[in-house]
Amino acid sequence: MDTVAQTHVLDETVYQYSTLTAVDQLERITKVVSSGALGAIAGDHVREFEQQVAGHLSRQGAIATSSASAALELLLRCLPQREVAERVVIPEVCWISVPTAVIRSGRTPVIAPATGDLTPHWEQIEPLLDEGTTAVILAHMRGRPAPDTHRIADELAQRGVTLIEDCAQAWGATLDKQPVGRHGLAAVFSTETHKLVATGEGGVIAADDSQLLHAMRAVGGNTRLALPENAHGRGNDRMSEITAASALPQLSHLDDLRQMLRPLQEELVNRLQNVPAARSVLPTLLGASPNLGADASNGSLVGVWLPTSRHASRVADQLFRSGVRHWWPGPGDPHLAENWPSTPTAATGGAVDLACYLDIQVPVLDEPRHPAFLDLITSALRLDEDESETA
Ligand SMILES: Cc1ncc(COP(=O)(O)O)c(C=O)c1O
Repeated sequence: MDTVAQTHVLDETVYQYSTLTAVDQLERITKVVSSGALGAIAGDHVREFEQQVAGHLSRQGAIATSSASAALELLLRCLPQREVAERVVIPEVCWISVPTAVIRSGRTPVIAPATGDLTPHWEQIEPLLDEGTTAVILAHMRGRPAPDTHRIADELAQRGVTLIEDCAQAWGATLDKQPVGRHGLAAVFSTETHKLVATGEGGVIAADDSQLLHAMRAVGGNTRLALPENAHGRGNDRMSEITAASALPQLSHLDDLRQMLRPLQEELVNRLQNVPAARSVLPTLLGASPNLGADASNGSLVGVWLPTSRHASRVADQLFRSGVRHWWPGPGDPHLAENWPSTPTAATGGAVDLACYLDIQVPVLDEPRHPAFLDLITSALRLDEDESETA
């Protein structure tokens, strides 16, 4: 292995994908700032972003918000309470603001355990449903679609239970070649810094029901619209014009970005499949299910399950020291239900030990530098004999 090439390869990587469209973003932002047309309610960029997102998802409409958390809270505020003590099933792996949004809406979150793809399947959700369950939130995690989405959507529809898709991490991920976010009542996306459309902070919610869209727009702060009769006041969840101006070029560039990431992602999957310690690698190249394959992912991550949490922790430490961007859900991670303070009926202790999982971010990198990047990752995954034995 060429250790000099390995040392320098990270200087060439682009991890913050938003920088790839910086020129176009700045051009739009300059127009907004120099025109002084900053108001989101009548803003051109916010409207255009909403139209683009709705078009991209084939949804009736979309509302741009200050974050995905705000979008989820707005949706839950606008959903009429059907039961006195409503329960909402949420996944064991998502983000700490998801149970908070449920609790703030006066409902009780119930946790569905994750499986090896980090999402619950119908088998994990079904036993949790009772007469008080009115909604299920399903998160598409780590740039991959939740593989059991179709079944979950069908089963919930038969029972009259609302499905909400949390696509915060899933810009560019697909199910049967269509973008995620087309199932169920509504889908939320995030434009926070680490997402594939990254504006620092921001979100958007897409839906088909025009009454619901109107209610969310009015309750979320569009003072030009009449509040629905049963609304409890009007807040401000709006996205700013500047934020929308930054998001638009990135949304247009999303397909190109996926194509740019794909070759290195596939090489990394191949490489990791040959590491003896790797129990399984996600996405797969061919896939037991087509929705687990690399084509369905957004190209940005490769996940690996390691034999023990100690092993995963040591690899994460190695990756950290090498400067490779990765995610290891170690102690205290706010993505995991075990670290949410306010989930009274949490039925965690799920099917998999999440601390054995980690994933590696795929940078944009020139093809000739791929071997050095792959060698760097392989070195981090190869613990010496003593370490592997005690791992
Ligand atoms: C799965 C998931 N849901 C929701 C959110 C909340 O997104 P935001 O930071 O835009 O509020 C996040 C944030 O990372 C997330 O990962």
